Amino acid sequence: MSGAATAIERVLDRVLGSNPREGEIARPVRLIEAMRHATLGGGKRLRAFLAVETARLFEANGESALRVGAALECLHAYSLVHDDLPAMDDDDLRRGRPTVHRAFDEATAILAGDALQTLAFDLLADPATDADPQVRSDLVLGLARASGLGGMAGGQMLDLQAEKDTPDEAAIRRLQAMKTGALIRFSCEAGAILGRATAEDRDRIRRFGEVIGLAFQLADDILDETATAEALGKATGKDSSRGKGTLVGLYGVTPVRAMLDGLVAEAEELLAPFGARAVTLAEAARFVAIREA
Ligand code: IPE
Ligand code: IPE
Ligand code: MG
Ligand code: MG
Ligand code: MG
Repeated sequence: MSGAATAIERVLDRVLGSNPREGEIARPVRLIEAMRHATLGGGKRLRAFLAVETARLFEANGESALRVGAALECLHAYSLVHDDLPAMDDDDLRRGRPTVHRAFDEATAILAGDALQTLAFDLLADPATDADPQVRSDLVLGLARASGLGGMAGGQMLDLQAEKDTPDEAAIRRLQAMKTGALIRFSCEAGAILGRATAEDRDRIRRFGEVIGLAFQLADDILDETATAEALGKATGKDSSRGKGTLVGLYGVTPVRAMLDGLVAEAEELLAPFGARAVTLAEAARFVAIREA
């Protein structure tokens, strides 16, 4: 993962340079600095790693996979910048550093999120990512569906509403599948799109992504309850203090750990037909569940 992270950061560093690209007019320095703060210097790069590894599974071009990974990290970073805003989770610490609205200001954080979101689609639509317009269009459509109204943004709406209601398990699972799961699922599917996987393989890898996406948010919720801010690089104990709808809140940590074990087993089963080619993805599934940050 750290190898993929270094390669992804190189791409991010390059696309977040100060020279305007073709079709752009100028790049305001303050906005670039805020976007760089949001994307460089920290983060596990899990979504990029998943795209790179699934692309490898289907023998896709490595450079293309890195660009797709960078796009996913831009979209993810945008979601974090907005998630941390005072109007949302109101957090001051992210990846061990001040959140973007703390390091800059709220308006700059909103705009940095906006511009990171469009940069993600810019990267996917650029012919440098793949020569085949159908592949690029599938990537753009997939990211849009994963991150918009019926995906991440919709899930964030439900997450905020759940602070006031008392959602049951099914409602919590659905909001988590949307706010976090959808982008992780698409990160896996993106590698299958780049690698021209068969419909059957693409569907299998999508289901793998769905399972680890849920596992990822369950682990995040456990860590919010059990870890320290120093270890996580972000504030902890926030979910219970804000009354977030989480399965940890509903059942406590121990039953959720048992659910996590079940999800890892399910993820491993989904990868079984790929055999030894998928060992790294299987390790990623285990990492998602047992990670400490
Ligand atoms: C945190 O995501 C937000 C959630 C969706 C739970 P990550 O834990 O992947 O954050 P970074 O990118 O590693 O900082
Ligand atoms: C964040 O979930 C989900 C998105 C950013 C889409 P959380 O609110 O639980 O993430 P953290 O705990 O702040 O990283
Ligand atoms: Mg949140
Ligand atoms: Mg948050
Ligand atoms: Mg959290």
